[in-house]
Amino acid sequence: MLNVGLMKFMKRGENSGNLVAIESARDIPFEIKRIYYITNVPSNVIRGCHSHTRLHQVLLCLNGSVTIHTQNGNSEKLSTVLSVNSEGLYIGPNIWREMSDFASGTVLLVLASEYYDESDYIRNYEEYLKSTTDFFK
Ligand code: TYD
Repeated sequence: MLNVGLMKFMKRGENSGNLVAIESARDIPFEIKRIYYITNVPSNVIRGCHSHTRLHQVLLCLNGSVTIHTQNGNSEKLSTVLSVNSEGLYIGPNIWREMSDFASGTVLLVLASEYYDESDYIRNYEEYLKSTTDFFK
């Protein structure tokens, strides 16, 4: 199963502007330990290109648009365009992700379940495929 899913959050207000609230462990399936955001990505750049062993994340595109490519190494794949700032893409552990086609001015906010830990990353695709073969055994 591809442990990835689009989440829709409630947008409050209209004429006076919009407000979206996200509460840790209530609106998303984990406690938020870290947030980070990605900006100023040139349109020809592909970011990501890694998986995480333990980390759960929700990606939100606050402005602009970006395409998130996910796969589980078991031939299940999903490409999601994020362009609505009340939607988020949940990505579970052991999912290879790549982010492409950042529109000018895109702001990508990431909510994460763990503090930054480089040892949680798999950045080599061959190594990733091998790890998922072991994982799905
Ligand atoms: P990386 O996760 O590889 O970015 P992306 O997936 O968007 O391509 O992180 C880029 C750099 O930033 C890398 O050197 C690690 C560092 N970094 C931190 O120091 N803290 C963090 O919370 C994150 C996400 C990255």
